[in-house]
Amino acid sequence: MADVFKAHKVSEKVYWVGAIDWGLREFHGYATPRGTTYNAFLVLAEKVTLVDTVKRPFVDEMFARVADVIEPSKIDYIISNHAEMDHTGGLPITIDRVGPEKVFASTMGAKALEEHFHFGYPIEPVRDGQTLNLGDMDVTFMETRMLHWPDSMMSYLAQAKILFSQDGFGMHLASSRRYDDELDLALLEWEAAKYYANILMPYAQMVEQLYGRLKSFDRPIDLIAPDHGPMWRKHIGWIADHYHRWAKREAKAKAVVTFDTMWHSTQLMADAVAEGLAEAGLAVKVMPLAGSHRSDVATEVLDAAALLVGTPTINSQMFPTVADVLCYLRGLRPAGLTGAAFGSYGWGTGAGVDQVQAILADMKVELAAEPLKVKYVPDAEALARCRELGLTVGRKALQSL
Ligand code: FEO
Repeated sequence: MADVFKAHKVSEKVYWVGAIDWGLREFHGYATPRGTTYNAFLVLAEKVTLVDTVKRPFVDEMFARVADVIEPSKIDYIISNHAEMDHTGGLPITIDRVGPEKVFASTMGAKALEEHFHFGYPIEPVRDGQTLNLGDMDVTFMETRMLHWPDSMMSYLAQAKILFSQDGFGMHLASSRRYDDELDLALLEWEAAKYYANILMPYAQMVEQLYGRLKSFDRPIDLIAPDHGPMWRKHIGWIADHYHRWAKREAKAKAVVTFDTMWHSTQLMADAVAEGLAEAGLAVKVMPLAGSHRSDVATEVLDAAALLVGTPTINSQMFPTVADVLCYLRGLRPAGLTGAAFGSYGWGTGAGVDQVQAILADMKVELAAEPLKVKYVPDAEALARCRELGLTVGRKALQSL
């Protein structure tokens, strides 16, 4: 396979030896229409070091790329920056085949790896700020707990000026291009934002701390090498500043209206709400859940000032797709939103709309109005009230900017 899957030289002694997952379309609840990569890196220091591995089904591809450069059994050290299985699924096999001298992970990582693989392998824990000597090169570890797992860390290879940033600054994007400047920046902005929104948004405070640490880092970083997607060499400041803005939740004059509908009544209401929001001066993104994935809704919410959620009431409940997106969004903890709930109902009291409003309140969304309910089908007067709801929420959201 080494004749097919080649290593990519990153710098004099560093090679990309990861795998490209062109076919991945779902990553634990996150839609990945462009696939992903599992990046692993081979450092040809005196102590030959593999930084991270790949998802289990891709381990042979990784080995082929390693074999393109060096006999895999020559690997002395393995650094595992993060225990999640998209990076460690291939670790037990790699250990078996390579027989490394040592495998390093953070303290929490050493525990997590054992809790995943139950292999009794003596992982050597490393501390934040600790430097590992590779003979002619050095790696310094930077713990990044809860970015996005308790075990997460980054590794800085001083001589190559490379920060192996693990999930940080990554994105799900399969590509034969390896670097930021070889790809369309608007595409990178969307996919990086999507990754941030769906993976890192709950940990904004830690992202802020990381941004501060990187700003005051006293050594040069020429390359940020994440474990998913392209490496950053031209737009390092750009992506760091985007992380800073996202962590601070710098919202735009933008509203997201998401809803589902049974007989188009809630859809009509959503359209009228959108008119009011636009009248207030917001850019509006209307996302019907019949065709919008929860992870795309989360991405749009990342820089939105307002969130309005519409649901029909079915058997005294909100619509299942609405429950799905709200469960997901609540976990991601978007901050600083203004919003309201709306929807149609037939009999009873429209309990589904009240349930949505209660979840929005629980998410600490600033509620600008009472839940707006319409019986069966909205008439012109009801649609005018929907438009007014959009106007009210929109005006309040603009005041929050
Ligand atoms: Fe790419 Fe948290 O694993």
